[in-house]
Amino acid sequence: MENPYIPELAVIKEIKDETSDVKTFKISFRDKKSLDYLPGQFIELTVFGYGEFPTSISSSPIPRKDFFETSIKRMGDATNALHRLDRGSIIGARGPFGNGFPVDKLKGNNILFVAGGIGSAPLRSLIYYTLANREDFGSLKLLYGARAPDDIVFKNEVMPEGKIGQGLDVFLTVDKANEKWRGHVGVVTTLSKETEITPENTFAVICGPTVMIKFAVAELLKMGFQKDQLIVSLERMMKCGMGMCGHCSIGAKYVCKDGPVFTCKETGKFLELPF
Ligand SMILES: Cc1cc2nc3c(=O)[nH]c(=O)nc-3n(C[C@H](O)[C@H](O)[C@H](O)COP(=O)(O)OP(=O)(O)OC[C@H]3O[C@@H](n4cnc5c(N)ncnc54)[C@H](O)[C@@H]3O)c2cc1C
Ligand code: FES
Repeated sequence: MENPYIPELAVIKEIKDETSDVKTFKISFRDKKSLDYLPGQFIELTVFGYGEFPTSISSSPIPRKDFFETSIKRMGDATNALHRLDRGSIIGARGPFGNGFPVDKLKGNNILFVAGGIGSAPLRSLIYYTLANREDFGSLKLLYGARAPDDIVFKNEVMPEGKIGQGLDVFLTVDKANEKWRGHVGVVTTLSKETEITPENTFAVICGPTVMIKFAVAELLKMGFQKDQLIVSLERMMKCGMGMCGHCSIGAKYVCKDGPVFTCKETGKFLELPF
Protein backbone atom coordinates (compact mmCIF):
# COMPACT_ATOMS: atom_id res chain seq x y z
CA MET A 1 0.00 0.00 0.00
CA GLU A 2 1.25 3.50 -0.86
CA ASN A 3 2.23 5.70 2.08
CA PRO A 4 -0.31 8.58 2.06
CA TYR A 5 2.18 10.88 3.84
CA ILE A 6 4.67 10.79 0.95
CA PRO A 7 4.02 13.61 -1.54
CA GLU A 8 4.03 13.03 -5.28
CA LEU A 9 6.42 15.08 -7.36
CA ALA A 10 4.82 18.00 -9.17
CA VAL A 11 6.04 20.75 -11.50
CA ILE A 12 5.27 24.46 -11.34
CA LYS A 13 4.08 25.24 -14.87
CA GLU A 14 3.24 28.93 -14.50
CA ILE A 15 3.32 31.65 -11.84
CA LYS A 16 1.11 34.73 -11.83
CA ASP A 17 1.51 37.71 -9.49
CA GLU A 18 -1.91 38.56 -8.05
CA THR A 19 -0.87 41.16 -5.45
CA SER A 20 2.42 42.08 -3.74
CA ASP A 21 2.12 39.01 -1.48
CA VAL A 22 -0.14 36.57 -3.37
CA LYS A 23 0.80 34.44 -6.37
CA THR A 24 -1.21 31.88 -8.32
CA PHE A 25 0.70 28.72 -9.20
CA LYS A 26 -0.34 26.43 -12.05
CA ILE A 27 0.87 22.94 -11.08
CA SER A 28 0.95 19.53 -12.80
CA PHE A 29 1.81 16.19 -11.26
CA ARG A 30 4.95 14.79 -12.86
CA ASP A 31 3.69 11.19 -13.16
CA LYS A 32 -0.10 11.63 -13.17
CA LYS A 33 -2.22 13.05 -15.99
CA SER A 34 -4.83 14.94 -14.00
CA LEU A 35 -6.31 15.41 -10.55
CA ASP A 36 -9.97 14.70 -9.66
CA TYR A 37 -11.23 17.21 -7.14
CA LEU A 38 -14.23 19.24 -6.02
CA PRO A 39 -14.34 23.02 -5.51
CA GLY A 40 -13.41 23.66 -1.86
CA GLN A 41 -10.96 20.76 -1.51
CA PHE A 42 -7.33 21.39 -0.63
CA ILE A 43 -3.84 20.04 -1.32
CA GLU A 44 -0.84 19.62 1.00
CA LEU A 45 2.10 21.25 -0.83
CA THR A 46 5.74 20.57 0.06
CA VAL A 47 8.58 22.95 -0.65
CA PHE A 48 11.54 20.63 -0.18
CA GLY A 49 13.83 21.77 2.63
CA TYR A 50 11.22 24.16 4.04
CA GLY A 51 8.03 22.29 4.85
CA GLU A 52 4.52 21.31 3.93
CA PHE A 53 1.30 23.34 4.18
CA PRO A 54 -2.37 23.05 3.21
CA THR A 55 -3.68 25.25 0.40
CA SER A 56 -7.03 25.41 -1.37
CA ILE A 57 -7.36 24.55 -5.02
CA SER A 58 -8.39 27.78 -6.73
CA SER A 59 -9.07 26.41 -10.24
CA SER A 60 -12.32 24.78 -11.33
CA PRO A 61 -12.40 20.99 -11.84
CA ILE A 62 -14.29 21.51 -15.10
CA PRO A 63 -13.39 21.44 -17.87
CA ARG A 64 -10.95 18.72 -16.86
CA LYS A 65 -7.33 19.85 -17.23
CA ASP A 66 -3.87 18.41 -16.75
CA PHE A 67 -3.09 21.01 -14.07
CA PHE A 68 -4.61 22.60 -10.99
CA GLU A 69 -4.11 26.10 -9.61
CA THR A 70 -3.56 27.33 -6.08
CA SER A 71 -3.25 30.95 -4.97
CA ILE A 72 -0.92 31.49 -2.05
CA LYS A 73 -0.18 34.36 0.26
CA ARG A 74 3.34 34.67 1.71
CA MET A 75 3.11 33.96 5.46
CA GLY A 76 6.11 32.07 6.90
CA ASP A 77 8.95 29.75 5.89
CA ALA A 78 7.25 27.42 3.43
CA THR A 79 5.03 29.93 1.63
CA ASN A 80 7.91 32.43 1.30
CA ALA A 81 10.13 29.65 -0.08
CA LEU A 82 7.43 28.75 -2.62
CA HIS A 83 7.21 32.40 -3.73
CA ARG A 84 10.97 32.34 -4.43
CA LEU A 85 10.68 29.35 -6.83
CA ASP A 86 10.61 29.71 -10.60
CA ARG A 87 8.63 28.05 -13.37
CA GLY A 88 9.84 24.46 -13.83
CA SER A 89 10.67 23.95 -10.14
CA ILE A 90 9.81 20.59 -8.60
CA ILE A 91 7.66 20.56 -5.48
CA GLY A 92 5.65 17.87 -3.63
CA ALA A 93 1.87 17.56 -3.49
CA ARG A 94 -0.58 15.26 -1.66
CA GLY A 95 -4.32 15.27 -2.00
CA PRO A 96 -6.97 16.34 -2.70
CA PHE A 97 -8.30 16.42 0.87
CA GLY A 98 -11.45 17.62 2.60
CA ASN A 99 -15.13 17.45 1.70
CA GLY A 100 -15.40 20.41 -0.70
CA PHE A 101 -18.49 22.53 -1.31
CA PRO A 102 -21.85 20.68 -1.57
CA VAL A 103 -22.30 21.46 -5.28
CA ASP A 104 -25.31 19.15 -5.73
CA LYS A 105 -27.15 20.75 -2.81
CA LEU A 106 -26.44 24.23 -4.24
CA LYS A 107 -27.97 23.37 -7.64
CA GLY A 108 -31.30 25.06 -8.38
CA ASN A 109 -30.61 27.86 -5.88
CA ASN A 110 -29.27 31.41 -5.87
CA ILE A 111 -25.76 31.68 -4.49
CA LEU A 112 -24.29 34.58 -2.59
CA PHE A 113 -20.49 34.27 -2.42
CA VAL A 114 -18.94 36.27 0.44
CA ALA A 115 -15.14 36.47 0.41
CA GLY A 116 -12.48 38.33 2.35
CA GLY A 117 -8.84 38.61 1.26
CA ILE A 118 -7.19 35.32 0.24
CA GLY A 119 -10.46 33.60 1.26
CA SER A 120 -11.46 34.23 -2.34
CA ALA A 121 -9.13 31.36 -3.42
CA PRO A 122 -11.46 28.38 -2.74
CA LEU A 123 -14.45 30.46 -3.86
CA ARG A 124 -12.77 31.10 -7.23
CA SER A 125 -12.92 27.34 -7.85
CA LEU A 126 -16.63 27.22 -6.98
CA ILE A 127 -17.42 30.38 -8.96
CA TYR A 128 -15.84 29.01 -12.15
CA TYR A 129 -17.63 25.70 -11.53
CA THR A 130 -21.03 27.44 -11.28
CA LEU A 131 -20.28 29.58 -14.36
CA ALA A 132 -19.43 26.44 -16.34
CA ASN A 133 -22.84 25.01 -15.29
CA ARG A 134 -24.67 28.34 -15.37
CA GLU A 135 -28.11 26.88 -16.19
CA ASP A 136 -28.06 24.79 -12.98
CA PHE A 137 -28.07 27.86 -10.70
CA GLY A 138 -30.25 30.91 -10.04
CA SER A 139 -28.72 34.33 -9.46
CA LEU A 140 -25.01 34.46 -8.61
CA LYS A 141 -23.62 37.35 -6.55
CA LEU A 142 -20.17 37.94 -5.14
CA LEU A 143 -19.43 40.28 -2.23
CA TYR A 144 -15.67 40.63 -1.94
CA GLY A 145 -13.72 42.70 0.56
CA ALA A 146 -10.00 43.46 0.64
CA ARG A 147 -7.88 45.64 2.91
CA ALA A 148 -6.94 48.06 0.09
CA PRO A 149 -7.42 48.23 -3.71
CA ASP A 150 -3.94 46.77 -4.28
CA ASP A 151 -4.87 43.74 -2.13
CA ILE A 152 -7.75 42.63 -4.35
CA VAL A 153 -6.79 39.12 -5.42
CA PHE A 154 -7.84 38.03 -8.97
CA LYS A 155 -8.32 41.71 -9.80
CA ASN A 156 -8.55 41.19 -13.56
CA GLU A 157 -11.14 38.47 -13.09
CA VAL A 158 -13.48 40.00 -10.49
CA MET A 159 -13.60 43.53 -11.87
CA PRO A 160 -16.86 44.06 -13.83
CA GLU A 161 -15.16 43.77 -17.21
CA GLY A 162 -13.33 40.59 -16.14
CA LYS A 163 -14.27 36.99 -16.86
CA ILE A 164 -16.08 36.48 -13.57
CA GLY A 165 -17.80 39.87 -13.78
CA GLN A 166 -19.63 38.78 -16.94
CA GLY A 167 -21.34 35.78 -15.36
CA LEU A 168 -22.33 37.05 -11.94
CA ASP A 169 -22.93 40.32 -10.11
CA VAL A 170 -19.76 41.45 -8.38
CA PHE A 171 -19.72 43.92 -5.48
CA LEU A 172 -16.28 44.99 -4.27
CA THR A 173 -15.27 46.93 -1.19
CA VAL A 174 -12.02 47.93 0.50
CA ASP A 175 -11.31 48.80 4.14
CA LYS A 176 -9.09 51.69 3.08
CA ALA A 177 -9.30 53.48 -0.30
CA ASN A 178 -6.44 55.02 -2.25
CA GLU A 179 -6.64 58.08 -4.52
CA LYS A 180 -7.66 55.97 -7.58
CA TRP A 181 -10.42 53.93 -5.89
CA ARG A 182 -13.95 55.04 -6.85
CA GLY A 183 -15.75 52.03 -5.36
CA HIS A 184 -17.27 51.16 -2.00
CA VAL A 185 -15.34 51.60 1.26
CA GLY A 186 -16.20 49.60 4.37
CA VAL A 187 -16.07 46.03 5.61
CA VAL A 188 -17.62 43.38 3.37
CA THR A 189 -20.76 43.02 5.50
CA THR A 190 -21.78 46.62 4.71
CA LEU A 191 -22.22 45.57 1.05
CA SER A 192 -25.16 43.32 1.88
CA LYS A 193 -27.33 46.41 2.40
CA GLU A 194 -26.78 47.50 -1.23
CA THR A 195 -27.30 44.27 -3.07
CA GLU A 196 -30.98 43.25 -2.94
CA ILE A 197 -30.28 39.91 -1.33
CA THR A 198 -33.18 37.86 -0.01
CA PRO A 199 -32.84 34.53 1.76
CA GLU A 200 -35.48 32.70 -0.33
CA ASN A 201 -33.88 29.83 -2.27
CA THR A 202 -30.44 31.25 -1.51
CA PHE A 203 -27.30 29.75 -0.04
CA ALA A 204 -24.51 32.04 1.16
CA VAL A 205 -20.99 30.60 0.83
CA ILE A 206 -18.55 32.45 3.06
CA CYS A 207 -14.77 32.26 3.14
CA GLY A 208 -12.16 34.50 4.74
CA PRO A 209 -10.62 35.39 8.09
CA THR A 210 -12.56 34.03 11.10
CA VAL A 211 -13.51 37.51 12.26
CA MET A 212 -15.00 38.30 8.83
CA ILE A 213 -16.92 35.01 8.83
CA LYS A 214 -18.39 35.85 12.24
CA PHE A 215 -19.58 39.29 11.14
CA ALA A 216 -20.92 38.02 7.82
CA VAL A 217 -22.84 35.21 9.52
CA ALA A 218 -24.31 37.56 12.12
CA GLU A 219 -25.43 40.00 9.37
CA LEU A 220 -26.97 37.26 7.20
CA LEU A 221 -28.86 35.78 10.17
CA LYS A 222 -30.27 39.24 10.86
CA MET A 223 -31.46 39.32 7.21
CA GLY A 224 -33.44 36.13 7.78
CA PHE A 225 -31.08 33.42 6.51
CA GLN A 226 -31.30 30.10 8.39
CA LYS A 227 -28.12 28.48 9.74
CA ASP A 228 -28.25 25.66 7.19
CA GLN A 229 -28.34 28.21 4.35
CA LEU A 230 -24.94 29.55 5.46
CA ILE A 231 -21.94 27.53 4.29
CA VAL A 232 -18.46 28.40 5.57
CA SER A 233 -14.99 27.13 4.70
CA LEU A 234 -12.73 27.10 7.77
CA GLU A 235 -8.95 27.22 8.11
CA ARG A 236 -7.15 25.58 11.02
CA MET A 237 -3.57 24.53 11.73
CA MET A 238 -3.09 21.17 9.99
CA LYS A 239 -0.45 18.46 9.66
CA CYS A 240 -1.64 15.22 8.04
CA GLY A 241 -4.68 16.65 6.21
CA MET A 242 -6.52 13.33 6.41
CA GLY A 243 -7.93 12.82 9.89
CA MET A 244 -4.94 10.90 11.35
CA CYS A 245 -3.02 13.29 13.64
CA GLY A 246 -5.75 15.22 15.46
CA HIS A 247 -4.00 18.55 14.85
CA CYS A 248 -7.07 20.30 13.40
CA SER A 249 -9.75 18.93 15.71
CA ILE A 250 -12.49 21.20 17.03
CA GLY A 251 -14.64 19.25 19.44
CA ALA A 252 -15.42 15.91 17.83
CA LYS A 253 -14.74 17.15 14.28
CA TYR A 254 -11.59 17.19 12.18
CA VAL A 255 -11.54 20.29 9.98
CA CYS A 256 -9.36 18.47 7.41
CA LYS A 257 -11.63 15.46 7.00
CA ASP A 258 -15.14 16.46 8.12
CA GLY A 259 -14.58 19.94 6.60
CA PRO A 260 -13.13 22.38 5.76
CA VAL A 261 -16.67 23.16 4.51
CA PHE A 262 -19.46 23.19 7.12
CA THR A 263 -22.91 24.73 7.43
CA CYS A 264 -23.37 27.21 10.26
CA LYS A 265 -25.75 24.75 11.84
CA GLU A 266 -22.67 22.54 12.34
CA THR A 267 -20.16 25.28 13.20
CA GLY A 268 -22.10 27.60 15.50
CA LYS A 269 -20.17 26.36 18.51
CA PHE A 270 -16.75 26.26 16.81
CA LEU A 271 -17.00 29.85 15.69
CA GLU A 272 -18.34 31.09 19.02
CA LEU A 273 -21.17 32.78 17.15
CA PRO A 274 -23.70 34.77 19.09
CA PHE A 275 -26.44 32.11 18.99
C1 LIG B 1 -7.73 23.98 4.50
C2 LIG B 1 -6.79 25.15 4.34
C3 LIG B 1 -6.76 25.83 3.15
C4 LIG B 1 -5.88 26.92 2.99
N1 LIG B 1 -5.87 27.56 1.79
C5 LIG B 1 -5.03 28.57 1.59
C6 LIG B 1 -4.98 29.23 0.32
O1 LIG B 1 -5.71 28.91 -0.62
N2 LIG B 1 -4.07 30.24 0.17
C7 LIG B 1 -3.24 30.64 1.19
O2 LIG B 1 -2.45 31.56 0.99
N3 LIG B 1 -3.27 30.05 2.40
C8 LIG B 1 -4.13 29.01 2.63
N4 LIG B 1 -4.16 28.38 3.84
C9 LIG B 1 -3.24 28.87 4.92
C10 LIG B 1 -1.84 28.26 4.71
O3 LIG B 1 -1.91 26.87 4.96
C11 LIG B 1 -0.84 28.91 5.70
O4 LIG B 1 -0.66 30.25 5.35
C12 LIG B 1 0.49 28.18 5.64
O5 LIG B 1 0.37 26.97 6.35
C13 LIG B 1 1.63 29.00 6.25
O6 LIG B 1 2.79 28.18 6.17
P1 LIG B 1 4.25 28.81 6.35
O7 LIG B 1 5.20 27.70 6.60
O8 LIG B 1 4.58 29.72 5.24
O9 LIG B 1 4.06 29.69 7.61
P2 LIG B 1 4.25 29.33 9.15
O10 LIG B 1 5.65 29.67 9.52
O11 LIG B 1 3.75 27.94 9.43
O12 LIG B 1 3.23 30.36 9.78
C14 LIG B 1 3.34 31.77 9.53
C15 LIG B 1 2.15 32.43 10.13
O13 LIG B 1 0.94 31.92 9.52
C16 LIG B 1 0.06 31.41 10.51
N5 LIG B 1 -0.57 30.19 9.96
C17 LIG B 1 0.04 29.04 9.67
N6 LIG B 1 -0.85 28.12 9.24
C18 LIG B 1 -2.05 28.71 9.26
C19 LIG B 1 -3.37 28.29 8.98
N7 LIG B 1 -3.67 27.05 8.59
N8 LIG B 1 -4.37 29.18 9.11
C20 LIG B 1 -4.12 30.43 9.53
N9 LIG B 1 -2.89 30.89 9.84
C21 LIG B 1 -1.88 30.04 9.71
C22 LIG B 1 0.94 31.10 11.70
O14 LIG B 1 0.21 31.19 12.92
C23 LIG B 1 2.00 32.16 11.63
O15 LIG B 1 1.55 33.35 12.23
C24 LIG B 1 -5.03 27.31 4.04
C25 LIG B 1 -5.07 26.62 5.26
C26 LIG B 1 -5.94 25.57 5.41
C27 LIG B 1 -5.99 24.83 6.71
S1 FES C 1 -4.64 17.68 10.10
FE1 FES C 1 -4.35 15.73 11.00
S2 FES C 1 -6.32 15.24 11.71
FE2 FES C 1 -6.64 17.08 10.59
